[in-house]
Amino acid sequence: MVEIIVAPSYDAMSRVAADIMTTFINEKPHAVIGLATGTTPLGMYQQLISDYTNKLVTFKDVRSYNLDEYCGLAPDHKQSYRYFMQDKLFNHIDINPHNTFVPDGKNTDVDAVCDAYEQDIIDAGGIDLQLLGLGHNGHIGFNEPDDVFSPYTHVVTLSDSTIDANSRLFSSRDEVPKCAYTMGIGTIMRAREILVIASGKGKASIVRDAFFGPITPRVPASVLQLHQNVTVVLDEEAASLC
Ligand code: GLP
Repeated sequence: MVEIIVAPSYDAMSRVAADIMTTFINEKPHAVIGLATGTTPLGMYQQLISDYTNKLVTFKDVRSYNLDEYCGLAPDHKQSYRYFMQDKLFNHIDINPHNTFVPDGKNTDVDAVCDAYEQDIIDAGGIDLQLLGLGHNGHIGFNEPDDVFSPYTHVVTLSDSTIDANSRLFSSRDEVPKCAYTMGIGTIMRAREILVIASGKGKASIVRDAFFGPITPRVPASVLQLHQNVTVVLDEEAASLC
């Protein structure tokens, strides 16, 4: 079941999403949380830092698994998702550094990276709450439009449109890695609860296609319609075509 919440602004969307996460962690302090990168969660992460600073939540027993990582980027590379997470969230809250997991982009042994990541999540008891942003082409994590839904963590070749979209964060398009490790659609769908956030006019058509269109691997996020517990938090612009 998909519940859609429309907030009046990006800041309000971020606050609603942070409230959902904070409430969840307060109810389950040892929660296993799936986290996302991108521009969309930045406001939510600031709200979570503020909740932590104001002693409204503690992350000390939380375990986190990020959705994805670029192949070839070391954790201290400024465009790596590990660096992003440290910089935007982990360095500002009390999460135990040993309990934060991002696929190892520097390890070229694809099977070892993917199998270990999937097994770690299983060993942790599975993901309780997974946060997702939406790519403009409907990708979740880095699961690009495809003919099938991928069951497990795997390596993907990034689509030209994703490389274009993400090149804004690199000094040139050539620097954007061509592939990435990502949780599979199956990995994401096994999370007990899913929280999707999207903001801005640019996401309006993919929000409509994902949650009101046919379920197809050509729009990877459309599979979320089959999940039993999804909350989608949108600002008004992202909701404008629903
Ligand atoms: C990247 C990430 C996704 C994210 C997407 C949208 O490609 N791999 O997990 O959801 O970008 O990013 P943004 O929030 O910046 O629009």
